[in-house]
Amino acid sequence: MPPTRQKPIVAIDGPAGSGKSTVAKLVARAAGLQFVSSGAFYRAVALLAVRGGIIATDEVALVGLADSLHLRFTTDADGTVRAWLDEDDVTDALRDPSVEQMASKIAIIPDMRAHLVRKLREYGRDGGLVMEGRDIQTVVFPDAEVKVYLTASDEERARRRWEELRAGGEAVSFASVLAEVKTRDARDSGRDAAPLRAAPDAVCINTDGRAITQVVDAVLALFPA
Ligand code: DC
Repeated sequence: MPPTRQKPIVAIDGPAGSGKSTVAKLVARAAGLQFVSSGAFYRAVALLAVRGGIIATDEVALVGLADSLHLRFTTDADGTVRAWLDEDDVTDALRDPSVEQMASKIAIIPDMRAHLVRKLREYGRDGGLVMEGRDIQTVVFPDAEVKVYLTASDEERARRRWEELRAGGEAVSFASVLAEVKTRDARDSGRDAAPLRAAPDAVCINTDGRAITQVVDAVLALFPA
């Protein structure tokens, strides 16, 4: 571990619906580390763009939003993590499908990513966190002590997302969710800037048919002694 770090950094990446957010939260809780969703930063820029009528190709405006972004998190007594932009609780707004698609579109802009990567690295200065996203084990913390790449089949990932949306009261068809998952994957993996991929030294775990607790235990087993 670099001398500046008392506690490890755990970097978890994977496509939408691979289970990375659930696994990262549980690993953080079990190991007493801070949980950070890097996707929330991309979603927050997207939300500000949607609210401000900024289109996905307006790079100058989007870079400006990323540069001045002040996203902070609080944790409720029941463990729910809330995201705030100033005094505005944006937790639910960040999950809106329009914000999600916008986040994936603007994530192709290298200059915008550079601002967010800098903000994300600030969180890890002293170690002690579990961060999940698309480029955490490849770009943000390539020297993380634990590097994990989670996968699952397209159908399994779409099923998880579909159930999540239905539980939230959204009437959507499975076919449309599967199509959206595939579109977002193609964009996240096919872009030039920090595409979604496993680092050569990451441990790949397929979560198909595996209980969450099994995956969490597999990640905890990778911690340095
Ligand atoms: O993990 P998520 O679904 O909250 O991410 C939303 C979008 O943000 C995703 O489609 C791609 C982008 N993203 C990214 O490019 N790099 C990250 N480290 C995290 C998210």
